[in-house]
Amino acid sequence: MALIHLVILAIAICGTSAQIQFPGSCPNQTVVDPFNATAYLGKWYEIEAYFQVFSSGAMCTVAQYSLRSDGLVQVFNTNINEATGNLVSITGSARLTEGTAAKLAVSFPVAPGEAPYWVLETDYTNYSVVFACRDYGTVHFITTWYLSRSRNPSQQARDDVRSIFLNRGIDVTKLQTTNQTGCPPDTNPPPTHLF
Ligand SMILES: *[C@@H]1O[C@H](CO)[C@@H](O)[C@H](O)[C@H]1NC(C)=O
Ligand SMILES: *[C@@H]1O[C@H](CO)[C@@H](O)[C@H](O)[C@H]1NC(C)=O
Ligand SMILES: *[C@@H]1O[C@H](CO)[C@@H](O)[C@H](O)[C@H]1NC(C)=O
Ligand SMILES: *[C@@H]1O[C@H](CO)[C@@H](O)[C@H](O)[C@H]1NC(C)=O
Repeated sequence: MALIHLVILAIAICGTSAQIQFPGSCPNQTVVDPFNATAYLGKWYEIEAYFQVFSSGAMCTVAQYSLRSDGLVQVFNTNINEATGNLVSITGSARLTEGTAAKLAVSFPVAPGEAPYWVLETDYTNYSVVFACRDYGTVHFITTWYLSRSRNPSQQARDDVRSIFLNRGIDVTKLQTTNQTGCPPDTNPPPTHLF
């Protein structure tokens, strides 16, 4: 069985990891299965994500996934630091952890360990709802994202994704809209043959 390494997205995105604490253990969430990693490649804009506690503010957040020459997937995340206006980028990789299910583990060279990246629902061409949960004693930590192929999805598209969150019992009051206005042109990922 081929393990596909997908480079992660926004989880540890440039140190702005957004985790919210909840009581009890991680909720059960179904994921896309079978997951078509090829169809998932390319550019995704972060539209909403959980409140970023330790972040001074990231805007124009973009994740780009590409196939590496070894058949694995490269993850290239960028954002603009709201305070400084500087471009921040990070490159990593991810792998599928459970057969054909969209349960990925992402790692970045600059950080130890792997972070979960579950694709709960996606149509590959418009939206993706990504979820990550970690049990920690009597509590759990959740991070979740609404990603879109468009920097500015329609209100209808936003409402549809909001329904997905609600149907799955995900607390939408913790979601923050990512500022995607006034952004510079996207930066291309580094060549994958370097990895
Ligand atoms: C998740 O599902 C398993 C098996 O169906 C069940 O044992 C467990 O209690 C569930 N966990 C939660 C948090 O609902
Ligand atoms: C996966 O997606 C690619 C690109 O869209 C497509 O060519 C391929 O047929 C898909 N594979 C399956 C098994 O659906
Ligand atoms: C989803 O994306 C496809 C391809 O870009 C587009 O043709 C279609 O209209 C979109 N669907 C919705 C519901 O936005
Ligand atoms: C988003 O960023 C732009 C460009 O920096 C700024 O003009 C605008 O006020 C910001 N919007 C919000 C809602 O913060």
